Amino acid sequence: MKLAVLVGSKGRGSNMTALLNACKSGRISASGSLVIAPSENIPAVGNAHDLRADIAIIHPSDPHFGEDLLAILDAERIDLLCLAGYMRLLPKDVVRDFEGRILNIHPALLPKYGGKGMYGMRVHQAVIDAGEKESGCSVHYLTEKYDEGEVLLQMKCPVHPDDTAETLAARVLELEHECYIGAVRKWIRQHIYAGRNASL
Ligand code: GRF
Repeated sequence: MKLAVLVGSKGRGSNMTALLNACKSGRISASGSLVIAPSENIPAVGNAHDLRADIAIIHPSDPHFGEDLLAILDAERIDLLCLAGYMRLLPKDVVRDFEGRILNIHPALLPKYGGKGMYGMRVHQAVIDAGEKESGCSVHYLTEKYDEGEVLLQMKCPVHPDDTAETLAARVLELEHECYIGAVRKWIRQHIYAGRNASL
């Protein structure tokens, strides 16, 4: 099982780092991993270098982005693509060719607080403004629309009365790392080990 993590141009790469570390420690049973990034000059790529990960650079605004991405996934024999801080829609041909094998993480309890324009602090501010008592994160299958695919795993945390978007984001982010690792483990159980009687 080989995993690729696709990060966005503003990505800090904390979810990517959590996933790569889980592959190294064996919590995720992957035989290899690859980071795909839009440029060398983003924090996530620095972290990926530190972790000695393989890195491929392709920019989403390149007209051949979809083809190039599929070519990399094919050449590297990637089983599962995890989006982490990648804020755009993926080209339709990628979503179709890789159906059921692309995951994304969203910092709220979908189906609430998702969709176009719902990213970063906007999500957490919307949760606070609505007076929610709990929030969390969701790992879901990717579709051609923002944040609409089936949820694979969610984790919840409380929203405190004195929370700001920033304090809530920090609490949710900690949860995201565990949730993404748990979701990838679940995906592997369902897709790779299913029927083989393996216990992960
Ligand atoms: C996370 O909050 C994730 O839910 C969202 O983008 C952010 C990426 O953070 N999709 P990081 O780059 O993984 O630290």
